[in-house]
Amino acid sequence: MSVYFDEERSVFCLMTENTSYMIGIADGKYVGHAYYGARMEDCGCGYLLRTDERPEPPSRNIREKAAFADSFFYEYSTWGVGDYRDSCLRVRTEGGARACELVFDGYRILDGKPELPGLPSTFAGEAGSAQTLEIVCRDDCLKLKVILRYSIFEDSDALIRSVELVNEGGERLYLEKVLSACLDMDNNEFQMLTLTGSWARERHMGYQKVSRGYQGVGTTRGISSHQEHPFIALVTENITETTGEVYAMNFVYSGNFKADVELSQFDTVRMTMGIHPDGFEWVLEPGASFTAPEVVCVYSDSGLGQMTRTFHDLYRNHLIRSRWLHEKRPVLINNWEATYFDFDTERLLEIASEAAKDGVEMLVMDDGWFGRRNDDTCSLGDWSVNEKKLPGGLAYLSRRLKEMGMRFGIWLEPEMVSPDSDLYRSHPDWAVHVPGREGTLSRSQYILDLSRPEVVDYVSESVARVLRSADISYVKWDMNRQMTEVGSACLDSACQGELYHRYVLGVYELQSRLLREFPELLLENCTSGGGRFDPGMLYYSPQIWCSDDTDAMERLAIQEGTALLYPLSTIGAHVSICPNHIVGRVTPFETRGYVALGGTFGYELDIMRLSGEERGQMRQQIELYHKYQSLVREGDYYRLASARENHEYDCYMVVSKDRREALVTYIQVRARANFHSRRIRLAGLAEDTCYVLEETGRQYSGRLLMKGGILAAPMAGDYTGKLYHFSAVS
Ligand code: DGJ
Repeated sequence: MSVYFDEERSVFCLMTENTSYMIGIADGKYVGHAYYGARMEDCGCGYLLRTDERPEPPSRNIREKAAFADSFFYEYSTWGVGDYRDSCLRVRTEGGARACELVFDGYRILDGKPELPGLPSTFAGEAGSAQTLEIVCRDDCLKLKVILRYSIFEDSDALIRSVELVNEGGERLYLEKVLSACLDMDNNEFQMLTLTGSWARERHMGYQKVSRGYQGVGTTRGISSHQEHPFIALVTENITETTGEVYAMNFVYSGNFKADVELSQFDTVRMTMGIHPDGFEWVLEPGASFTAPEVVCVYSDSGLGQMTRTFHDLYRNHLIRSRWLHEKRPVLINNWEATYFDFDTERLLEIASEAAKDGVEMLVMDDGWFGRRNDDTCSLGDWSVNEKKLPGGLAYLSRRLKEMGMRFGIWLEPEMVSPDSDLYRSHPDWAVHVPGREGTLSRSQYILDLSRPEVVDYVSESVARVLRSADISYVKWDMNRQMTEVGSACLDSACQGELYHRYVLGVYELQSRLLREFPELLLENCTSGGGRFDPGMLYYSPQIWCSDDTDAMERLAIQEGTALLYPLSTIGAHVSICPNHIVGRVTPFETRGYVALGGTFGYELDIMRLSGEERGQMRQQIELYHKYQSLVREGDYYRLASARENHEYDCYMVVSKDRREALVTYIQVRARANFHSRRIRLAGLAEDTCYVLEETGRQYSGRLLMKGGILAAPMAGDYTGKLYHFSAVS
């Protein structure tokens, strides 16, 4: 890893082990993007800025300044001075003018990586393991300073970008749009890869050819969303797991975002990512600063697999803060799909005591334990135990569980308020709303205005009070609606555009406070399933409920898309009952277990309804979990085949970092008639190592497994599955 400035050539270089990112200064003024790609020691790449071609830079061709601005490869594009492509920054003055031009005004190279105030961000860990380049630009007319930050880590090929704006003048500035990253490049017949979906269908991988104009993803729902994901990648045609180039961006943020690709008149592409400008406006007072959340950029010249493993390692080593990150997570049973709202202490203890017999280690009590909540129409905000359901309260329940050797986990939805709640009756103005306009209900609830410090204090104290009242090891932090009528009774009229972002900052503040007081807590975020599965939330919780869809076949595509970026240890995955509650499909219990083992693993079913055979399988699954959990949590992930593409089978594997152990998960989605076995080439093994397949005792070289492959025998029936476990013997 190294970061330096070649003064003679006016080029900044950021070198990771396998990549180089180079920034040139044109005319001594304009900060331009020269190169991003495979590592290249030669920083004489300033010519790639094309400043010797027409339109030349303004110093040589003042009359064509606008033409220059419209084609230059900017590191950070601004609105209103001739660059008509998508801009990163649009600023309005008190007088209503909207032009901004950033001019280079110095730089710093720092050891380490600064934290971003109030925001989750990647961190360096050990001193000296990261370096940061800060490029300072100014618009003297606006008296605006803009710091472009780039950080790299010793052990990663990722590049982290963020932006800080400082108002150095005496007048207010209105930030109408502040994106976090921009990447201008020549087009290379790129395709755009995104993760899109819906509730119960999150993060499906999808490609589309980049065509003239704008294309991209984004959301204004107030959460990073089920529908779109804060991720975008440009990939070369016919990309595979091992070949082709990838330029990827992932946003460390949990609210509104926008990620776009624009193909210009000159066949250049501009890729941008940041907070969605719709509904956003930030008042920058004199002397104040604003920091935009960070973007993780990953380049791979060896296909998607390398990109994935770069993200996984970065998030495991430099993002997730939880002390549970490298710990074995307790096998849990959650009562949601077993009982929904209809439970009491005895019912929970019955589930727990049965589950304990099979090796389950924690009971998670889901929605319905507080206020008068017997359905989803009331009581959010009133976080006191419903003693009718739970006599003796949480303390009694947790004590009884402890006697069985079980931990206790609890569901909370702290960001919400039901109109039918004591909290709402006392503080109707604490809900996000527009005065005089009826609030749109969603799941019969409103969102609390977390831009208000007193609301954050109230919520934080209510959650802490619950956790102080009993021995609680785990919290499922849920969030079940999107934003509408976005207004705050507290913010002044000029600052209403800050609410979306201030809300997200409020969520981050709440989770920071929670973990400060309860550092041992295992926190699992959830947003109607995976509606806020993003790097921002992962900073606080080492795992996130991936989807409300627990059907094993649906989960293949959901978990594949999620694992494109996020380690398997972050993916909340449970075995549930069949017919599945979302799609009605019936799959073998065994297969449900294999699929859930590709995540955090647990159960979400009425154990009393399982047959004796299924209970036996449950015990075996839990044994498999104990056996493979550290491999799955810490290993390198390889996609081998996708049922989303081939409609017949799915296969992926995890290889330990020392390449001494590997686990292959093979799921046969559709049985084929009259067919021989399927050959699957493995990946990530050491060629010269000899591996034994546990099931048969047969030995293979790593070379043979990767070039020759294994033969997966056909199985009788659809939705069947099998695990292949290999260990090194030499
Ligand atoms: C939505 C979550 O995704 C579910 O798992 C469950 O916790 C319900 N909310 C409870 O209301």
